[in-house]
Amino acid sequence: MSLFFVLLLLLSLFSFTIEAQQQTYLLHYCPNTTIFSPNSTYKTNLDRLLISLTSNATAGSFFHNTTTGKHNSDIVYGLFLCRGDVSTKGCQDCVSTATKDVIQRCPVEKTAVIWYDNCLIHYSNQSIFSTPAMVPKFYLINTANVSNQERFNQILATTMNDGAALALNDTLPLKKFATSEANVSRFQTLYSLLQCTPDLTTSDCNTCLRGAIADLPNCCDGKQGGRVLTPSCSIRYELYPFYNQTAVSVSAPPPPLTPPPAITPGKSKNTLPIIIAIIAPIAVSVLLLFLCCCLLKRRARKKYKAVEEENAKDDISAIETLQYDFSTIEVATNNFSYSNKLGEGGFGEVYKGTLPSGQEIAVKRLSRSSGQGIEEFKNEAVLVAKLQHRNLVRLLGFCLEREEKILIYEFVPNRSLDCFLFDPEKQAQLDWSTRYKIIVGVARGMLYLHEDSRLKIIHRDLKVSNILLDSDMNPKISDFGMARIFGVDQTQGTTKRVVGTYGYMSPEYAMHGQFSVKSDVFSLGVLVLEIVNGKRNSNFYRTDAADDLISYAWKQWKNGTPLELLDTVLKDNYSRNEVIRCIQIGLLCVQEDPAERPTMATIAMMLNSYSVTLPVPNEPAFFRNSRTEGKMPNVGLESDQSTSRSTPWSINEVSITELDPR
Ligand SMILES: *[C@@H]1O[C@H](CO)[C@@H](O)[C@H](O)[C@H]1NC(C)=O
Ligand SMILES: *[C@@H]1O[C@H](CO)[C@@H](O)[C@H](O)[C@H]1NC(C)=O
Ligand SMILES: *[C@@H]1O[C@H](CO)[C@@H](O)[C@H](O)[C@H]1NC(C)=O
Ligand SMILES: *[C@@H]1O[C@H](CO)[C@@H](O)[C@H](O)[C@H]1NC(C)=O
Ligand SMILES: *[C@@H]1O[C@H](CO)[C@@H](O)[C@H](O)[C@H]1NC(C)=O
Ligand SMILES: *[C@@H]1O[C@H](CO)[C@@H](O)[C@H](O)[C@H]1NC(C)=O
Ligand SMILES: *[C@@H]1O[C@H](CO)[C@@H](O)[C@H](O)[C@H]1NC(C)=O
Ligand SMILES: *[C@@H]1O[C@H](CO)[C@@H](O)[C@H](O)[C@H]1NC(C)=O
Ligand SMILES: *[C@@H]1O[C@H](CO)[C@@H](O)[C@H](O)[C@H]1NC(C)=O
Repeated sequence: MSLFFVLLLLLSLFSFTIEAQQQTYLLHYCPNTTIFSPNSTYKTNLDRLLISLTSNATAGSFFHNTTTGKHNSDIVYGLFLCRGDVSTKGCQDCVSTATKDVIQRCPVEKTAVIWYDNCLIHYSNQSIFSTPAMVPKFYLINTANVSNQERFNQILATTMNDGAALALNDTLPLKKFATSEANVSRFQTLYSLLQCTPDLTTSDCNTCLRGAIADLPNCCDGKQGGRVLTPSCSIRYELYPFYNQTAVSVSAPPPPLTPPPAITPGKSKNTLPIIIAIIAPIAVSVLLLFLCCCLLKRRARKKYKAVEEENAKDDISAIETLQYDFSTIEVATNNFSYSNKLGEGGFGEVYKGTLPSGQEIAVKRLSRSSGQGIEEFKNEAVLVAKLQHRNLVRLLGFCLEREEKILIYEFVPNRSLDCFLFDPEKQAQLDWSTRYKIIVGVARGMLYLHEDSRLKIIHRDLKVSNILLDSDMNPKISDFGMARIFGVDQTQGTTKRVVGTYGYMSPEYAMHGQFSVKSDVFSLGVLVLEIVNGKRNSNFYRTDAADDLISYAWKQWKNGTPLELLDTVLKDNYSRNEVIRCIQIGLLCVQEDPAERPTMATIAMMLNSYSVTLPVPNEPAFFRNSRTEGKMPNVGLESDQSTSRSTPWSINEVSITELDPR
């Protein structure tokens, strides 16, 4: 038994020691479209080039570019780059290993790139210096999942952007290398590393790094680690330190000038058995601990999965990947055929489409002139496409062609909440637990828009028909970011163009055009009351005096009979506690004074925890149909009602009411 352990220890120590000396190969790329013959001058020049690179690495450089050959047809351009934190010795070992390895893996190819953990070799028969090469692009992912993905993505984006700024700053002369760290939680730290080949200009390096960062959501979403590798730059992040923190904390280390003493390859190998021989008998228990650490450490470094990027045909900036051809959209929607039409809102018609890949999409063909230039439209669409949350309908891309502006969304199968909530036949499908799940999901999605995403987005048109339901009845908020895409956004302030829906607009917004996160909170309050009650606020008729849902809810609350508000189809199958909390939250949200309304963060907390005591709501802002029109002196009501009436969507589907103060 103990013999077995010692054996295991020896084996493990042996392999660990070997691993520490070994250079980790990652990937190589050498298309066989351009090849040389084994006897050619090119081959001779390539061999000379690789020798020159190795000797320069031995001399202490971390980057070197050189050419060999005289005649145009057989010149070889080549470079090596070591990771910024790697020691001279590490760099030398890596380049030496990689130059030998690359000619094994790419025996006849003129152009090759090989990535090792610590270095990169790149050569070609064309000049590759000072030229950003973002193709081919490879992703490597650490398959372990992160736990709090939204928060993690946010921290990752910030950390990467900080790192890019550092790498571009020339505090490390000629290095174009940076690492950046951030605390994810009390126990977890995020480590990131970014590097360009130093022959690039700052602006090319920036382009390359931004392109790589923009790819992280595609390659590595929800993963604990990931890398994007291109010949010109690479980025990586992990939840463990994968670079030498001591080496990077030394700011602007001067490049070593004297070559390190030559180390004979045999020497280090010879020491290995001696070390084992001395240590193993003495400190078995210490080694056991060491072994455990090694194994744990290895387990943490989950297997890497190489994913070649499917579309490496040109440099993949975010805009290009998000832009769709008009012809593709035409085919996908069967020429915008009526049978594909899903509905119509204030921004235009919505069609269902199917991409050639089989992916179903929803296509929103914008009808209004947006006052937004092409470039701004693109930029905003790219920003909005980056907002990803399970309670938001994902923007997949856009199309700009022939005066058309089109937004392409993921297709959400179950249509919108109002199709269930206000349909006498289907409303029974929404039992209380489903309704509660929808309320919680909408609050989470809104919290992300308000506080957790990279941009602060005020929705401005939150309502039942903008809540789509997936096949599991999970809610997804749609139409967010429209104000941005339409160029009418200010994060807070007063707007001349009021975009919103009658019945959901807070009084300060409808009357004075003042919007803030608190106007969205108001809309959420209306939405919550509608979900509890099963009737529209704007279409609410009762025989008694109260003439809208908010007034009715307030009246019942004051009477101490809040459950009167509950949809009668729910009968006895509900949680009394949850229903009353929802009504109370709804009433808190529709209070007249925006400052008294809770924030989305507070709402999400109130919904998550029953132990939070809710404040007592004040009298809501009454917003009676009959009076408001008369009470808005400077507001002309231009709405889509007349056009919407002719569509299959009912009058109450009106998705936009635009009010232009004169
Ligand atoms: C290039 O590689 C592909 C795939 O490995 C192979 O099918 C093809 O025959 C190769 N072409 C040449 C010229 O070697
Ligand atoms: C390479 O060149 C040598 C002499 O120049 C010749 O004998 C040999 O056949 C050549 N080999 C090939 C593969 O062309
Ligand atoms: C580095 O490479 C250059 C060619 O680019 C060569 O002239 C020089 O001798 C090399 N330096 C060393 C120390 O090998
Ligand atoms: C290395 O790259 C720089 C920048 O592109 C270039 O000016 C220089 O000539 C290159 N060196 C060699 C030896 O080709
Ligand atoms: C590189 O090699 C390919 C194929 O041998 C050739 O078509 C191309 O023109 C070469 N490029 C240069 C710059 O010589
Ligand atoms: C990560 O999550 C995905 C689904 O979200 C799952 O398929 C995969 O097995 C998980 N991976 C690990 C290592 O837990
Ligand atoms: C770049 O470095 C300078 C001096 O070290 C510093 O003042 C500046 O803030 C840095 N810029 C960025 C974007 O990090
Ligand atoms: C992370 O937290 C530790 C203490 O918990 C602190 O010392 C360190 O500075 C933090 N690091 C960053 C990057 O904020
Ligand atoms: C990390 O870097 C420091 C300073 O460059 C060096 O002394 C140390 O040996 C390095 N550690 C490892 C594990 O390479």
